[in-house]
Amino acid sequence: MTRIIKMSEKRIDKKGIKYAANQIKNGKLVVFPTETVYGIGANAFNEKACKEIFKVKNRAADNPLIVHVCSFGQLKEVAVIPDNIMVILKRLWPGPVTFIFKNRDLSKTVTAGLNTVAVRMPRNKIALELIKESDAPIAAPSANISTFPSATEAKHAVADFFGKVAVIIDGGKSAFGLESTVIDISKKPYRLLRPGSYDVSELEKFLGKIYVSGKINKTVKKGRVLSPGMKYRHYSPKKPLFLFNNIRELISASRFLESKGIKFAALIPSEYSKKVNGNEKIILGSESKASEIARNLFSSFRKLDEIDAEIGLIVDMKLDSFDLAVRNRVAKAAGENKVRNLSHFIRLFKEVHSSLRE
Ligand code: TXA
Ligand code: MG
Repeated sequence: MTRIIKMSEKRIDKKGIKYAANQIKNGKLVVFPTETVYGIGANAFNEKACKEIFKVKNRAADNPLIVHVCSFGQLKEVAVIPDNIMVILKRLWPGPVTFIFKNRDLSKTVTAGLNTVAVRMPRNKIALELIKESDAPIAAPSANISTFPSATEAKHAVADFFGKVAVIIDGGKSAFGLESTVIDISKKPYRLLRPGSYDVSELEKFLGKIYVSGKINKTVKKGRVLSPGMKYRHYSPKKPLFLFNNIRELISASRFLESKGIKFAALIPSEYSKKVNGNEKIILGSESKASEIARNLFSSFRKLDEIDAEIGLIVDMKLDSFDLAVRNRVAKAAGENKVRNLSHFIRLFKEVHSSLRE
């Protein structure tokens, strides 16, 4: 049985936290809110419980987990801290950024056999209370079945994990809606491994120059990758999603689909709402409010799977913050379906559509 416990950061249910923390202590799994996305967590020092996370998520064993801590004391238990970094960490944490350190004492299951470990101190008060009350760091990937969009509301985690975890703490909609930014500080130069809710330009004010690979949005299938997570298909709705360079291309594709009587949904910023005809529109938010788009992105992907549409069309957006992260998630969700022009779309669509029909 899974117990769902509802609370908010303003009104923390102490008994609920105690119950959930006891489950963590007993080696069970707990889904909990963070300011980025929901996490599915276990005691980071309980290897059996951590193995269970991989099982219920259907996660590849070579993709390591992020360890969540509630204090700097706890950080020192799990990681080797480079000289002079503590002062900076204290300014950035708690917050939506994960750092890669040399591993101190965590199992191969958590680190996927690497000699490094990813650690984050989340800002969400429910998450912090849960870690504190559990008296242990909590290893937690995003609370979604692997390859699907991360959970940004408790109902997403309920859909994926009800019956498979002891507790789901419903703390409302995630504040940011995109995962944390991951930075490797285990060696110099510091490197971005995953763009996320903390903009790199902001982090550079504290950390100095951060190296960003031009390949950050590519799904690397073979060879050496910086972060194991980069190898995998990610964040994807179950239905095919086509990514367009601009709204004009999206509109011509929508006309083609209408002429063929094919149901589709357009995932677009509110600014384009009137320009696009079509069966379904999923409004991502206003392009001038990047935080809104970021916050709605994953729930929009999940919505596409729920509504009466065969495919989704999404447009590349240029945002004044979260830009790298949003475009990274959109590019990965669309995968191979990056459209160059109408005839290219028709070709791609026909391939996808015939396999949909099989
Ligand atoms: O916002 C977040 O980061 C959320 C919440 C729950 O904290 N967690 C999250 O975890 O997104 P997950 O497992 O979905 O993503 C963790 C990423 C993966 O891309 C993984 O490969 C990378 O961090 N990672 C973990 N440990 C690593 C390590 N030692 N070296 C390089 N990359 C690592
Ligand atoms: Mg994830």
